[in-house]
Amino acid sequence: MATLVTGGAGYIGSHTVVALHEAGRDVVILDDFSNAPRLAVDAIRSLTRSDLPVEEGDAGDPQVLDAVFGRHRIGSVIHFAARKSVAESVRDPLGYYRSNLGSVMALAAAAVERDVERLVFSSSATVYGSTSALPVTEDSPTVPESPYGETKLMGERILADTAAVSEMSVISLRYFNPVGAHPSGLIGEDPSGEPANLVPRIMEVVAGRRDRLEVFGADYSTVDGTAVRDYVHVMDLAEGHVAALDTDMDPASSRVYNLGTGSGTTVLQVLAAASETIGSPIPYEMAERRPGDIEASWADCTRARDELGWQARRDLAQMLRDHWNFVRRQSLS
Ligand code: UD1
Repeated sequence: MATLVTGGAGYIGSHTVVALHEAGRDVVILDDFSNAPRLAVDAIRSLTRSDLPVEEGDAGDPQVLDAVFGRHRIGSVIHFAARKSVAESVRDPLGYYRSNLGSVMALAAAAVERDVERLVFSSSATVYGSTSALPVTEDSPTVPESPYGETKLMGERILADTAAVSEMSVISLRYFNPVGAHPSGLIGEDPSGEPANLVPRIMEVVAGRRDRLEVFGADYSTVDGTAVRDYVHVMDLAEGHVAALDTDMDPASSRVYNLGTGSGTTVLQVLAAASETIGSPIPYEMAERRPGDIEASWADCTRARDELGWQARRDLAQMLRDHWNFVRRQSLS
């Protein structure tokens, strides 16, 4: 039985497809390529040395799902396909609710109808909001602060409620801040348009496409005044999905897990580590806080360690090295 990976050509999806293949699983990718390059499929196929099947279509379209489930024997599903910009979700809330929740509902219905045993959902630490005590555990209050965050929390609930009246088990994985790329440099984060996240923006400075990095906020109550996040290597996240498929669970049950490293890093510490990786200073300037940003967030990953046997293994230096390696190869090709 194959694993259907929606959004399998995207950033975390593509790395997860490679990890699943390495773990000996058959994979079917479903992607509409609205925010993923078609070239990612070639890269995945060359990394896995296999002609793994790719279906083009919208994971929220019941007819597409019907056709995909009809053509392949699907035993498990990992659902990545979603829109993921916080800022865009504030400007277009209905679009986000329609798209992100439409796909969750269509996929949940198809999965139950086709007797899928395990569904893994791509969630986010953004479901916690800003008030949690640190480190953030899975039992911390969930208070999303954007329509995007709401779609992740509602997606978790829709799937948990669906699982409860079916034979399916569901795991939602709440990622902290994904960084890095496959060590080959063949797949990585390829944001269309202007990136919003810290490491892609640092890479733009390094690549000469941006003069300097703006550090958003120097007056936080942290060791150096800049905000703290839990950056986690995308290869570690990919392995977390394999663990989520492998773990034993009762039918009709659901669980949530934090995936992070368990330690926090400030913006200036990330910059310093990136300068060291690149081997030259990275210009920056202090700027105002970015609206909506929180001071500090890092994960308690005890539950994932104890129940999934998963732990992040790669450090910040490796995240930056691999991320830069991918960006450099992209700019050369
Ligand atoms: C953002 C999203 C979050 C998403 C996460 C992972 C927002 C408000 N939150 O989180 O929903 O799950 O990405 O993709 O967009 N920074 C700078 N200069 C920059 C860019 C960022 O100083 O040019 C700082 C930010 O202020 C923040 C830290 O770097 O303190 C990390 O920012 P970012 O990578 O955008 O992630 P989050 O804000 O944690």
